[in-house]
Amino acid sequence: MDLIKSLERRYSTKAFDPNKKISDEDQKTIENLLQLSPSSTNVQPWHFTIATSDQGKERIAKAAEGFYIFNKQKVLDASAVVVFSAKTEITDDHLYKVLDKEAEDGRYADPQFRKDYHNARKIFVDMHKYDYKDLQHWAEKQVYLNLGNFLLGLAQMKIDALPMEGLDMKLLDQELGLREKGFSSSIVVALGYADESDFNKDLPKSRLSKADIISNI
Ligand SMILES: Cc1cc2nc3c(=O)[nH]c(=O)nc-3n(C[C@H](O)[C@H](O)[C@H](O)COP(=O)(O)O)c2cc1C
Repeated sequence: MDLIKSLERRYSTKAFDPNKKISDEDQKTIENLLQLSPSSTNVQPWHFTIATSDQGKERIAKAAEGFYIFNKQKVLDASAVVVFSAKTEITDDHLYKVLDKEAEDGRYADPQFRKDYHNARKIFVDMHKYDYKDLQHWAEKQVYLNLGNFLLGLAQMKIDALPMEGLDMKLLDQELGLREKGFSSSIVVALGYADESDFNKDLPKSRLSKADIISNI
């Protein structure tokens, strides 16, 4: 299936078939998608909580009450639910962890490259921390980039999905103990296979025209 056909086929699934589960093999590919996303300076300021058990999904669904009730059944019926979290701070420990992994993966033939790359990454982190004062926002941008990569990958795999901002993220942070670990939840993705009852399944896709959104210069 070519890329554009996959993107035309994918849509935000509003009702999942609770009996159709993602295979173990596809579940591994899903983890690869999360791992392989690019990020600015390869900083990878993210964590993913994946629920496939009923208990795990019920814990996430606690954040879909009250105003957010419209998303509850989607969380409960999906085959898997992924909580995307962003780092609330980017410590030197994290930067050295990334650096050590890059070295281990063979990216620095010359030790000087390692130093240079660390310094360059630190400049970007400090720029966002001290000059722009938007470090958390910057981290979250990287998480959303991962989200885009993820949705595209799922589309290629013909796995149905729904990204959701409509959950109580504070409650979710508490339920998953994310803040203590230096993270805060940004977005949740339910995935699996659409139920026949899904009203959104056969609605035509709607986007602004290319003339509206693209200028060629
Ligand atoms: C970041 C983001 C957050 C969204 N949050 C929700 C949500 O909480 N609940 C929901 O039913 N749909 C949600 N959506 C689905 C959008 O409404 C949908 O992607 C958009 O209308 C485009 O339609 P399509 O995904 O079917 O192509 C969200 C989509 C994105 C990208």
